[in-house]
Amino acid sequence: MGIRKKILFVCLGNICRSPTAEGVFRKISSEYSELDLEIDSCGTYGYHQGEGSDPRSVSTASNRGYDLSAIRSRKILPQDFSHFDYILAMDYSNLDSLHELALKHEYSVNNIHLFLSFSNQSKVKEVPDPYYGGNNGFDNVIDLIEDASKGLVLELLSDKNMPLQNKTS
Ligand code: 4NP
Repeated sequence: MGIRKKILFVCLGNICRSPTAEGVFRKISSEYSELDLEIDSCGTYGYHQGEGSDPRSVSTASNRGYDLSAIRSRKILPQDFSHFDYILAMDYSNLDSLHELALKHEYSVNNIHLFLSFSNQSKVKEVPDPYYGGNNGFDNVIDLIEDASKGLVLELLSDKNMPLQNKTS
């Protein structure tokens, strides 16, 4: 039996960081046949709704073997808070917005985390917004996201996420 989880990556515009996280995590997690995941991304703000990802994110991801071409920006919906098992914010500002919105709609905040809390490294806590910066910001985004994606895979594979009937105690 597979490990079934639903994972939502969230940033501000859903055109740079969270689509990159969606594409990178989709590829990294696909190498584990025991994982049966629903993976999506969205933004806390809707001003790029319906648009493809930023061309700089698409090309940087493509150079590193990740395909973002099918992703279209969407804004978070209240029902996302109950649908997804993991709602993963790219920075503290996204985290605050998510907490505020979940509480406003009377949903639990227990499934909302900072994505880099799953990272191996503990120095960098946020995926910096690359939108107004230079091109190397986009490679840095992928470095941080690859690292946290590997940590998230390990979390999902860990015993506490096994289906109840597979647990010994
Ligand atoms: P993202 O980056 O949150 O990583 O998608 C941004 C995209 C667009 C804007 C800001 C950040 N914007 O101001 O339009």
